[in-house]
Amino acid sequence: MPRSPSVEAIGLIKRYKTKERKGLFKGRTIVIEALKGVSFKIYPGEVVGLLGPNGAGKTTTIKIISTLLIPDEGEAYVKGYDVVTEADMVRKNIGVMLTVEKGFYNKLTGRENLEYFAALYGLSSNTIKKRVQEVLEVVGLEELGASDRLFEEYSLGMKARLNLARALLRDPDVVLLDEPTLGLDPPSARKIRDLVKGLAHREGKTVLYTTHNMFEAEIVCDRIILINKGIIVAEGTPDELKDKIMAFRTVKIMVKGGPRRYDKLKEVIGVDPEIRRENGLTTIMFKARKPEELIGDVIRVLVSNGADIVKLTVEEPTLEDVFVYYSSKG
Ligand SMILES: Nc1ncnc2c1ncn2[C@@H]1O[C@H](COP(=O)(O)OP(=O)(O)O)[C@@H](O)[C@H]1O
Ligand SMILES: [Mg+2]
Repeated sequence: MPRSPSVEAIGLIKRYKTKERKGLFKGRTIVIEALKGVSFKIYPGEVVGLLGPNGAGKTTTIKIISTLLIPDEGEAYVKGYDVVTEADMVRKNIGVMLTVEKGFYNKLTGRENLEYFAALYGLSSNTIKKRVQEVLEVVGLEELGASDRLFEEYSLGMKARLNLARALLRDPDVVLLDEPTLGLDPPSARKIRDLVKGLAHREGKTVLYTTHNMFEAEIVCDRIILINKGIIVAEGTPDELKDKIMAFRTVKIMVKGGPRRYDKLKEVIGVDPEIRRENGLTTIMFKARKPEELIGDVIRVLVSNGADIVKLTVEEPTLEDVFVYYSSKG
């Protein structure tokens, strides 16, 4: 049976008008097309990463899905509700965490802040205390002894945890997180990453997670959508994205000693290897789609040339390689 997506974007286009300043009084209006037709589907139980560099359109996408911005063209749905015409229903089903944590009160404790938002969201007064305690525990503020400290005393990591706690107050089916770990201390970042995975994998929630950090996307996300300049350039599991560019596997062979001729090597691998010399060792590097088919010949050539091989490694492409590859195609 086909599953229905819990978040769906269809051809989203968003333009921002801004003034380009030219001197004191002159200026012309310029239009920035932040999204140029973005479409995707996200299903229950998965963490999907929207991965792209600064300015790619990640925040704009999250804001449209969370009803904070209206698209110029295209549509988006959360659990079948239209983000423009059924915004109220959408809001009831989502928890949002934006990078800039807005609305918290400096002179209230974390707990008091959450109680305030719980009331604002319409949680019944007899469940508020219990639910607030639950989310404080979930995000680890309780463990840090921070629940009853003033917000103004919070570290960045504590603020991020409180921000996530607020997003979870209503126990939403769909969680939208905009660069949730940006600038955080490693324990807080790890806590948030683990939590997010648990929400999807243990509780079956849908998570849309934006980041510009490839390492993070790779460890957090079940599926990654690569976005650049308002366009989706690739989509797949971290492994699939890497698979598509297996030509980026790098073979590194370290040999003892200095200059040597590697002409024969070129005949075997088909390209000029990159050669680096350091501390009496020479590293020979080349990229290959199927290194396993070459390595035997490579070793034979090197050994017959008198090379003393110290180490041989094959490095898998990183998501960064994938990103550079797809971005350069666009
Ligand atoms: N309020 C705004 N006014 C004008 N341009 C904006 C505004 N918000 C975002 N942009 C521009 O839209 C593009 C996408 O921005 P954004 O969605 O914030 O990207 P990301 O979150 O991936 O860094 C960028 O070029 C950005 O400068
Ligand atoms: Mg952003």
